[in-house]
Amino acid sequence: MSIGIDDISFYTSNFFLDLKSLADVQNIEADKYYQGIGQERMGIVGADEDVVTMAAAAALPLLDSCDKASIDTLLFATETGIDQSKAAGVFVHGLLGLPSRCRVVELKQACYSATAAVQMACAIVAREPERKVLVLASDIARYDLTSSGEATQGCGAVAMLIGSNPRLIEIHPQSGRYTEDVMDFWRPNYRSTALVDGKYSTKIYLKALKQAYADYIDQGGARFEQLDYLCYHLPFSRMAEKAQTQLARCSENSSDAATRSAMVAPTLTYNRTIGNSYTASIYIGLVSLFDHAAEDLSGKRVGFFSYGSGCVAEFFSGTVVAGYRDSLHTQRHQEMLEARTELTYTQYLKFYNFEIPADGGDHCMPEQTTGPFRLASIDQHKRIYCAR
Ligand code: CAA
Repeated sequence: MSIGIDDISFYTSNFFLDLKSLADVQNIEADKYYQGIGQERMGIVGADEDVVTMAAAAALPLLDSCDKASIDTLLFATETGIDQSKAAGVFVHGLLGLPSRCRVVELKQACYSATAAVQMACAIVAREPERKVLVLASDIARYDLTSSGEATQGCGAVAMLIGSNPRLIEIHPQSGRYTEDVMDFWRPNYRSTALVDGKYSTKIYLKALKQAYADYIDQGGARFEQLDYLCYHLPFSRMAEKAQTQLARCSENSSDAATRSAMVAPTLTYNRTIGNSYTASIYIGLVSLFDHAAEDLSGKRVGFFSYGSGCVAEFFSGTVVAGYRDSLHTQRHQEMLEARTELTYTQYLKFYNFEIPADGGDHCMPEQTTGPFRLASIDQHKRIYCAR
């Protein structure tokens, strides 16, 4: 029996800022962002959107072809938790009308936790192959204005159904792991923006890649030269180029830069235009690969490198299933991105500076999102969601 991703879809806000607008205000060349970090736009959430509304929107199309009663567990991965106690997934469970016997829990480890969720989901399905696990990863990347991280903000959510005999990609059992207690990126409970030691974080990312890949090889994983494509955690798209160079070096692979670039290019398209989506980014990279690869991916081996600052990393792989194209949501993704509204820099600042009222009163949220779900109000500290 094979286990893996049976269905996958992503969602991002309907607002974005072009990084040229940011570069103009900063009086620098837009190419620092377009080429230097490989980002064109960043997704910006409206006041009535959060990780719950984005995750529920990402999951909605998956329910069209799945019996809700078969969903045994919902695992919600996020860095952008909305409550210290209640799992964000419980709100999504309600919005989607999932069965009451479905267990729900939230997982946290910076950008890594969606991969822990995928691996746990595979273990659950191995025990009960007729069940499905809904894995949601949803995040809003926020840094201080004028900080080095500002241009790498973004938002997005991905939803995956993990099941037996999957329609899209089988996950291989080998996985390499690496954990080290470091402070490269973190967000204390009292802050709404992340703190980051930018250059250090990229060095730690590459070190963790080397270590996790070495462990993956020790566990009997496929060598770099046996992989056809790589999906990396994408804090910004150019990170994939740095990672490819690192991996080729670790494996003494002699491939040239153009070949290495072709192995990741289709995974980057969505990230370039939505920005960092933390836990979701690696799997939005997989959606991007499915939606943009020129060739039929059936039988192709894909390597995955998941990285969460702090840090925990994992390297694993999978094989794309023949016939996967019949189960993609490509048109929906592309229409969603085409329908987005561009913000001016002044509008961006207004969105950025919006604060959730914390006084315990009854507050309606401004109606901004065009997505299927919205945060309607905050009443006496309770978040009230609704379908739009
Ligand atoms: N045209 C083309 N390229 C240009 C350019 C221009 N006009 N101007 C500059 N560049 C190039 C630079 O040469 C540089 O290239 P190299 O990386 O090849 O050296 C690149 O653009 C970036 O320029 P800087 O190094 O000057 O950029 P910076 O210091 O302002 O910021 C950063 C880079 C530190 C990564 C910053 O974006 C940041 O702090 N980001 C947030 C942290 C982050 O994303 N870390 C990634 C690893 S941690 C992780 O993965 C977890 C997570 O999600 C946060």
